[in-house]
Amino acid sequence: MKRNAQFVFLKRLLTSLVGSLAVTASVAQTVNLGTVNVADFKVVYATGQDVAEGKRVAETMCVNCHGLNGVSTQKGVPNIAGQRPVYLHLELKVYQAGARGVNTMANTVKYMNDDAIMKVSAYYASLEPAEASIPSTAKAAPAKPDAVASGKAAAAACGGCHGDAGVSKTAGMPSLVGLDPKYFVAAINAYKGGQRKHDMMKALVSELTETEINNIALYYALQKPEKAQTPGTGNAAAGKTAAAGCVGCHGEGGVSGQATTPSLAGQESQYFVAAMRSYKEGSRSDATMKGPASSVDEATAKNLAAFYASQAPQAPKVGRPLTVAEWAERCDRCHGVNGNSTDPRSPAIASQRVDYLEKVLRSYKKGERKSKEMVVMTEGLDDALVEGLAKYYARQKARAIAYLVLPPPK
Ligand code: HEC
Ligand code: HEC
Ligand code: HEC
Ligand code: HEC
Repeated sequence: MKRNAQFVFLKRLLTSLVGSLAVTASVAQTVNLGTVNVADFKVVYATGQDVAEGKRVAETMCVNCHGLNGVSTQKGVPNIAGQRPVYLHLELKVYQAGARGVNTMANTVKYMNDDAIMKVSAYYASLEPAEASIPSTAKAAPAKPDAVASGKAAAAACGGCHGDAGVSKTAGMPSLVGLDPKYFVAAINAYKGGQRKHDMMKALVSELTETEINNIALYYALQKPEKAQTPGTGNAAAGKTAAAGCVGCHGEGGVSGQATTPSLAGQESQYFVAAMRSYKEGSRSDATMKGPASSVDEATAKNLAAFYASQAPQAPKVGRPLTVAEWAERCDRCHGVNGNSTDPRSPAIASQRVDYLEKVLRSYKKGERKSKEMVVMTEGLDDALVEGLAKYYARQKARAIAYLVLPPPK
């Protein structure tokens, strides 16, 4: 970089900054970065000389870890070349205040004065960003099948009895659509643990892992609910009258509003009658159902079964989990297209080191690194999504936007 080179800002950035300055007050409230004030934005007016002086600061204080080019070769140390200058400045102040914990960074910046912080921020912001830390040409790791697809695959063995997509075609076999995953998982675990006695179901589910059970439950919950195809022999109208005492728990028309109470709408009638019998006899022991079942005789149970079998089942209130790409769309709202932030407060994350991205996302999730936005955003991320998003951003191409170098004036 030429000593006397003049630095000016892209017009686009300037425009966005004028807007940002206007919202400075609210920034301080919404972004947990410490206090953002006009001084933090001074860095964007840095001159060529400031940048040159910033380079000298970097040579003495930062080079061992971040390199002079701002591209890290060390695990856990982030790339900072081409990072948004206001963000760099803010973070250095945050470390200085101790708000990102006691670590090597905090110790490094502890005694730096504001001028040096401003200049070193300008210097690293002026550099070319790192190449994607996972080359974009690298073969993408085979995407792990998502939860729903895995659930479908694991449920292949269940369709023979429970019907394709969980709608029973066989008398005595329960439909599995319209059941809340919470109830579904509890039922499987009750078979596994022997609290719910059914040797065949026990054998069928004993090898399933917790994840497989969750995925299967999710898969069935997302299938189109339809009534079982085996109508009952009871009197549905009489059943409707008898069902008055069931509504409080099982919902109007048998659509339950509680996750742990099963919906009965559209349930297979012969299974229904058998279930009532087993609650009554105690072979399916459940404190809640024992009372209601003991007052129901066989004929009434058939009527209840016919009534509920005629009711339209509904899908439980669960959403399909978002994929990595769908999550990334949400992240990009603040971090810019493919992680190339144009908002001075949000860091660019394109081409950042994958290990650093993972580490940081986990630390927001655990609440170790504080940021209102990021704590909310990472709440719903499981391990697979954290890894997926880190890989996704590590392979994005980073664009430098901060400075445009003009030839020195003649
Ligand atoms: C001893 C090694 C070391 C030195 C020296 C060091 N850093 Fe760091 N730096 C780190 C590590 C490790 C992290 C990540 C820490 C964390 O997770 O909070 C980091 C994080 C940062 C961040 C936050 C990046 C982000 O994306 O949020 C900035 C900015 C930064 N360093 C700038 C500097 C500057 C400027 C200097 C010199 C004045 C410097 N560092 C000196 C190791 C170092
Ligand atoms: C050979 C037939 C058969 C196969 C295969 C089968 N099931 Fe079942 N399933 C049954 C029967 C019969 C019942 C009713 C048992 C009872 O009375 O408790 C049942 C009950 C259930 C229930 C409880 C439903 C409710 O409303 O409480 C769930 C959940 C379930 N099965 C899931 C599965 C899953 C998941 C698979 C595949 C891994 C599977 N089943 C494979 C026959 C089968
Ligand atoms: C106090 C709440 C409550 C009332 C009242 C109640 N139930 Fe239940 N019912 C439950 C709960 C909770 C379960 C799940 C128990 C289990 O895990 O075995 C259940 C399970 C059932 C099942 C088994 C469903 C399946 O998919 O395996 C049937 C059938 C049933 N109830 C029918 C009835 C009928 C008919 C009535 C009215 C006569 C009734 N219930 C009243 C709470 C209630
Ligand atoms: C509402 C705006 C917003 C959204 C949406 C958002 N972020 Fe952030 N993100 C921020 C802000 C502001 C910071 C800086 C917070 C701080 O100082 O710790 C940040 C920081 C980060 C960092 C730390 C960068 C560094 O260099 O240390 C990573 C990584 C990150 N976000 C990833 C994501 C991912 C992945 C998503 C989507 C799941 C996401 N963000 C969604 C605003 C947002």
